[in-house]
Amino acid sequence: MSALTEDHGLQIRPISKYIGAEVTGVDLTQPIDEGTRQALRNALVENIAIVIPDQHFTPQQFAVAAELFGDLMPDQIKSNLVKDFPMVSILSNLEKDSNGKQAKVPKNATWHTDHTNKELPPNFTFLYAVEMPEQGGGTSVVNMNAAYEALPAEKRAEIDKMKTANVRISSARLTTANRDVLAEQVEMGDPPVIHPLVRTHPERGTKAIWFHTGKTEHIEGMNAPESQEFLANLLEESVKPEFSYTHNWTVGDMLVVDNRSAMHKAGSDYDMSQHRMLYRTMVCGDRPY
Ligand code: SIN
Repeated sequence: MSALTEDHGLQIRPISKYIGAEVTGVDLTQPIDEGTRQALRNALVENIAIVIPDQHFTPQQFAVAAELFGDLMPDQIKSNLVKDFPMVSILSNLEKDSNGKQAKVPKNATWHTDHTNKELPPNFTFLYAVEMPEQGGGTSVVNMNAAYEALPAEKRAEIDKMKTANVRISSARLTTANRDVLAEQVEMGDPPVIHPLVRTHPERGTKAIWFHTGKTEHIEGMNAPESQEFLANLLEESVKPEFSYTHNWTVGDMLVVDNRSAMHKAGSDYDMSQHRMLYRTMVCGDRPY
C-alpha cells in the first residue's frame, strides 16, 4: 500500500492494498478550482473508491459535489427520490412500499454494480451517510479488476466472451422485490439490455468482472438458474477478502465508487429496527465494452 500523498491541498491516504483511499482537506460545499477537481477525480480512478469524511450536505449540496465528476444520472427507482430534488435518492431500511410493507430482507446487500439494465450505466455512484445504526451497516466495495486477474487464464478467456442480459429485476429476485418496482417493470416492458460480463475501464485500460446479481436475467447461451449458479461460483472463486474494503460509516461521510472497476454491497449486519439512511446519486457513464 502506498503512503499518504498530497495533491492540490488534498491529503490522499490509501486504506487498503487493493481498493479505497480517504481524501481529506476539502469541504465540498465550497467552490473548488479545476486543479483540485481533477486531483479528486484522479484519486477516485486510481483508488477505485474514495471516502471523503466530515461533509455537511443538503441533498442539493450533495448533488453539486457529485457533479464535479460528471453529469448526474436519474435514479430509476422513482419512489425513493428526495421531494423537490429528484437527482438524489433516499436509501432507507425503514422504507415502505405503497401497500405499507417494509422489505423483508436488507436491500442492495449482495454484490452488484448499479443500473446494469441501462444501456449507459453510471460511471460513478455517490453515497452519503445521513443516519446510521449504532453498529454494522457498512458498505463494502471490491476491486473486480483484481478479482478478474486472480482467475486462471482459461477461466479469464472463458468469461471474456460472455454477455449478460440485464433487466430491472431478474426472475431470481421476484419473491423479494419491491412490489411497486415489479409493477413498473411489467408496465414498461423494456427488453433486456446486453452487456459484456467483463468490461474494460476506458481510462485505466484494465478489465473487471462486472454485473448486478439481481439484474442479470441470464448469461447468453445459459438459462436463468444456470446463469445464477455460474455467477455465484464466479464470485466465490474470484472475490478474495483482501480485494474488498468495508466502510463503517460515520454520519457525514461521502463514499464514491468507480463502477467501471468495482462492485459494491450494503451491509446487513445491523439491528433492522434502527434507522439506516443514505443519500445516493450517480454520474452518467458510457456503453461498457
Ligand atoms: C447501493 O447499492 O447503491 C447502496 C449501498 C448501501 O446501501 O450501502
